[in-house]
Amino acid sequence: MKTHQIDMTDGFSGEELLSGPVGLTYRDFLVLPGFIDFNPSDVDLESRISKNISLKKPLISSPMDTVTESSMAIALALQGGMGIIHYNNSIDEQVEHVRRVKRFENGFITDPIILSPENTIYDLDIIKEKHDFSGIPITEDGTFTSKLIGIVTNRDIDFEQDRNIKLGHVMTKELITGAVGISLKEANNILKTSKKGKLPIVDKHGYLVALVSRSDLKKNKEFPDASKDHNKRLRVGAAVSTLPESWERVAALYDIGVDLIVIDSAQGNSTYQIEMIKFIKSNYRNLDVIAGNVVTKDQCKNLIEAGADGLRVGMGPGSICITQETMAVGRAQATAVYKTSQFAKKYDIPVIADGGIASIGDISVALAIGASVCMMGSMFAGTNEAPGDYFYENGMRLKKYRGMASLEAMKAGGDKRYFSENQKIKVAQGVSGAVVDKGSVTNFVPYLSQGLRQSFQDMGYKSIPLLHEALYNGKLRFERRSESAQAQGSVHNLYSYSKPTMRVE
Ligand code: IMP
Repeated sequence: MKTHQIDMTDGFSGEELLSGPVGLTYRDFLVLPGFIDFNPSDVDLESRISKNISLKKPLISSPMDTVTESSMAIALALQGGMGIIHYNNSIDEQVEHVRRVKRFENGFITDPIILSPENTIYDLDIIKEKHDFSGIPITEDGTFTSKLIGIVTNRDIDFEQDRNIKLGHVMTKELITGAVGISLKEANNILKTSKKGKLPIVDKHGYLVALVSRSDLKKNKEFPDASKDHNKRLRVGAAVSTLPESWERVAALYDIGVDLIVIDSAQGNSTYQIEMIKFIKSNYRNLDVIAGNVVTKDQCKNLIEAGADGLRVGMGPGSICITQETMAVGRAQATAVYKTSQFAKKYDIPVIADGGIASIGDISVALAIGASVCMMGSMFAGTNEAPGDYFYENGMRLKKYRGMASLEAMKAGGDKRYFSENQKIKVAQGVSGAVVDKGSVTNFVPYLSQGLRQSFQDMGYKSIPLLHEALYNGKLRFERRSESAQAQGSVHNLYSYSKPTMRVE
């Protein structure tokens, strides 16, 4: 019998899989394999985060105070993703983070750790424990607002027995510096000829402006996928609440050049949010607004009609989240992503799958069921670029990671997204915990991207738009997994094995 006479229908379409009465999440099903006629390197991961902004990688970081400040946003933008700066801070602090990203110049460290001559070698030892260290500039008062007077390198302190000696006594005072405005190439030449590890860049008053590092020179300096605006500055987003305070916040963020605003609310379908979208869209016409969070078509409709340029989807799937447990409101994440994406597509509005992503497979599935980009908290929280220092517990190197509605974060102002900032009794919708060290985003994002390309190859699609086309025309096929299929799909029957870590060297 010829194959065209046989019914070749296999598996289920996205609609069949995700329209049943039971909400599903990423690991409840698999994508059936397609046909491979290309290499992983042929896969293009470009996708839209909002109506007017595309990213080369569909990866963005959550606006949380243990995830995204300027270091994370810079590292992600260089790799083709994007960071959304949290707002559990003053307007000035948030603006400063955005400013650092927008004025970032590849190769120049604009926020180096600085000490004063009064600090001791012991102070430096403590810094060394937490950060990579090879040279610390010393200014008169230990800040940017006084003159550069020395630099302390490992060579100055390695053999010093007395760790209480002040840095003023051991620092190198004969400095080779670069003048502000110097190009990276010129700075590199000075470093090469002087054989120094760090080159401080100073202004005409001798104030430190930036630092160029020799070790950075050796790293890959090209970032062909970097997310950049029309003026070639890195892209960055910032979150705001639906509170009136945000009117002033948005104005300040806009002035500094923020690329998009995320209106951060656990339940986005509210008059407060609709008013905020309208306010931003009517006052800052070229500023994209991502609204959310939503999980149903109805919620999407209200926010899209108000003018949203993108939707953030997820209520309850976050790793630190106890919203579904506490409030009994939310939706299983795969169903939420599918339903909202299918609806938003009619308006050409991209959907961000937010929360619950813990592996490359989860990212692939989220994209396969309609998401345009994935927002992650726990995945990025353990990287070098996340705020906070590493610490050890049971021999593991960890970083703190907390929900913005954990009691701890709420005390620091994080409850603005939960309409509970004026409530005397705080009901937590998140927890505070720790995640393992994942190394640098500079290595982690290429690792995630390579995994995604391989997954796309298995599915048989070369790009996210092609994958979405196949989702909606029914060519992309899925299948539910029984519990035993899920168990079989993970490592089993072994006495012992070593789990691959996500830490990439
Ligand atoms: P993760 O990637 O699974 O760790 O989830 C991160 C997402 O959880 C964030 O982007 C927020 O949407 C959400 N989130 C942040 N803080 C809380 C919280 O305290 N409770 C519930 N959800 C939260």
